[in-house]
Amino acid sequence: MDTFVIEGGARLSGRLQVDGSKNAALPLMAASLLADDVLVLRNIPELSDVRSMKALLQQLGVDQEERSDGSWKTQVRDPTLCHAKYDVVSTMRASICVLGPMVARRHYARVSMPGGCAFGHRPIDLHLRGLEALGAKVRLENGDIIAEADRLRGATIFMGGPFGSTVTGTANILSAAVLAEGTTVIESAACEPEIVDLANLLNSMGARIEGAGSPRLVVEGVESLGGADHSVMPDRIVAGTWAVAAAATNGEVVLERFPWDSLLAMMDVLRQIGVRIERLDDGPDCAREATVRVTSERHLSPAVITTQPHPGFPTDLQAQFMALLCLAEGNSVITEKIYPERFMHVAELSRMGGLFTRQGPTVVVQGVKSLIGAPVMASDLRASACLVIAALAAKGQTTINRVYHLDRGYVRMEERLSQLGANIQRVKATPPNAVPEVRESTKSAPEIEIIGTSPAAADLVKTDR
Ligand code: EPU
Repeated sequence: MDTFVIEGGARLSGRLQVDGSKNAALPLMAASLLADDVLVLRNIPELSDVRSMKALLQQLGVDQEERSDGSWKTQVRDPTLCHAKYDVVSTMRASICVLGPMVARRHYARVSMPGGCAFGHRPIDLHLRGLEALGAKVRLENGDIIAEADRLRGATIFMGGPFGSTVTGTANILSAAVLAEGTTVIESAACEPEIVDLANLLNSMGARIEGAGSPRLVVEGVESLGGADHSVMPDRIVAGTWAVAAAATNGEVVLERFPWDSLLAMMDVLRQIGVRIERLDDGPDCAREATVRVTSERHLSPAVITTQPHPGFPTDLQAQFMALLCLAEGNSVITEKIYPERFMHVAELSRMGGLFTRQGPTVVVQGVKSLIGAPVMASDLRASACLVIAALAAKGQTTINRVYHLDRGYVRMEERLSQLGANIQRVKATPPNAVPEVRESTKSAPEIEIIGTSPAAADLVKTDR
């Protein structure tokens, strides 16, 4: 497993273009199962999750061509291949996005049940209930979900769960309802920009969807869908990660293809903290893409953040902001409302001198003057991004193990950061005996947990705040 070695302290400066969105690309790619003609997608990021989706679609009889202009062309070759097997599904939860398109277009789907996740239980009950409401018969057999239907029938479906709407659940039901007979109303649909991107693609294939971006989607089913040529939206979480990295290093970074209209909640918090974000283009306020300059003097104020479904503050930026708020002058409060256990990074940040008090889904972050480099362990994609940001800002050297998590969501992250002046190196995997010992990086959360009271960390607080 590869490792990042980061020498902290370099101020990030320069210009970067934001890559295409992983979480938009995956359901868009799954929509290739619905097309009766050639589908072309552009701006698909080169990520390991995207490679997994390509392998899965291959398994499901979709011919694919990587074209010289970077686009990805598909056409269904064999619609009788309907089994999404455990070997691919177990590597990526978003594989579940093939379920809706397959049952709608092929009338049968067998998809391995996605397993657990590093940051807690992630059920798919809302996906299955939605398909049942559309008339599919759903059962579990040998760890596989089997869904069957002659032709789906439009229905009114409530998609809200205990933590709000579901993003991939909405994508799944939307991608099924487009071929259902009659009208489907999806109430409490996810409003995330990735759902808008999916609806735009489906509409350009011939679907009739209204209300994308709002909690109520109305879909008039059609008999069949054709092909399309579509460019994937830029990645709002990658853009946010670069902005936070710039802020944490006193940086000045220009970001192109910045998904402005999707990141209003994040920019609001950054500005409260004291980070400057300027528009460098003259596009409209609601621009899907913009060019922005992010500048920070690193006199950071603390903040109160609560993660929420879009347009609220995204859970996928919670960890990165925690790294930044370690450097604020005062105490910040972060509450995780989407995944109450998504705090794997807290224990690792505390190894770098971060000071935290956790009570259930809330963490109080006590600002320190600086973080200190240390060996740390990446546990999931965004927790890993958090550790990279902390390492870039820290004094001394940090080694981050298991960076394969980052390869799932950030295209050649070390190259992008080096381009901005970071001192970061990828060290290729060494023989098994040389791999650093695997430490346990999580423990079940007691009611109240004080983390980061090592003498070094406590000392920093005493002397600096
Ligand atoms: N939920 C249910 N029942 C369901 C589905 C979800 O109770 O059937 C709950 C979840 O447990 C969670 C909440 O609803 O508490 C939201 O989960 P959601 O289904 O929206 O998550 P997801 O669709 O599986 C996507 C992103 C995640 C991102 C979440 C929330 C993709 C491929 N993944 O996951 O991205 O955190 O939405 O915005 O789009 C990441 O990129 O690092 C990542 C984890």
